[in-house]
Amino acid sequence: MIRLVLGLCAIGAVVATPVVTRSKEDVDRYRDFLLNTFTNKADKFKNLAAQSPDHPEMYSGKYQGDIVLDKEDVDDMVAQYASGRNAVIFPGLSTQWPDNTVVWAFADTHYEEPGQKEAVLEAMKLIESKTCVKFRQAEPSDRFFVNMTSYPSGCYAHVGYRVWRGPHIFNLGSTPGSDCFRQPTIVHELMHIMGFFHMHATYDRDNYVRVNYENIVSGAESDFDKLNEYLVGNLGVEYDYVSCLHYPALAWSKNFEPTIEPLREIDGVMGQREYITEKDWLRINRYHNCPGAWE
Ligand SMILES: *[C@@H]1O[C@H](CO)[C@@H](O)[C@H](O)[C@H]1NC(C)=O
Ligand SMILES: [Zn+2]
Repeated sequence: MIRLVLGLCAIGAVVATPVVTRSKEDVDRYRDFLLNTFTNKADKFKNLAAQSPDHPEMYSGKYQGDIVLDKEDVDDMVAQYASGRNAVIFPGLSTQWPDNTVVWAFADTHYEEPGQKEAVLEAMKLIESKTCVKFRQAEPSDRFFVNMTSYPSGCYAHVGYRVWRGPHIFNLGSTPGSDCFRQPTIVHELMHIMGFFHMHATYDRDNYVRVNYENIVSGAESDFDKLNEYLVGNLGVEYDYVSCLHYPALAWSKNFEPTIEPLREIDGVMGQREYITEKDWLRINRYHNCPGAWE
């Protein structure tokens, strides 16, 4: 990420983060919200999930739906929240995988339904064909790798590579009425593993979308946190409404009114999970300094 931050300073102007006052109740609520992501299974927003079969990742009970936090993140995030920031500096540096190579293994007895392993392998091959990122199956001597599971509790993943983390979590399962195995969804989760966050959480999103807090179901407000530009940048690629990492207009909507409203005209469908965009590929290529990515 250090490389990334340096690149961004040259491009983006520094935006001051307004400081707001937060009560002890607010802070406690935020801590509970984060801690909940460790214990909650996919049923946190069961009713909403049933309405949104194309986005099982959004309702997998983790941070912003499908981001697995490390325990170490929580105290830092709560401290930032208590200090009044309204953008989160994602704590504890995650980085690119060494040699731009993601090391992975299917956990024993997982991905045994017909076609599941093939779907994951195909998504990896697609990424390899479009970027300079490689995927390598773990060998017995590997200590740090993505431990791929297929528990029926939604789709979710850790963000980036952390050397002290040990096994990295990645799960693709099925929840009733939906499943995680469509290709753009698999790539979405693999993009988390490579270090990417959701599009709507980017620091400059307010220039591109309006977040309608009055339409968000109670308990999901913090899923719309912005992430601080010092750690999470766009690598000089413009905001992408149709990214496979963007959520749809009705994300966590309690009333069928939009929670995310585009401020500009869109070419395509916001929140689509039919294809991966050129901007998605470009951001992966730039993040890994792939040949030609910055030309
Ligand atoms: C991978 O996940 C499986 C299933 O949860 C677990 O049994 C196994 O111990 C994990 N492997 C590692 C190295 O953590
Ligand atoms: Zn996600």
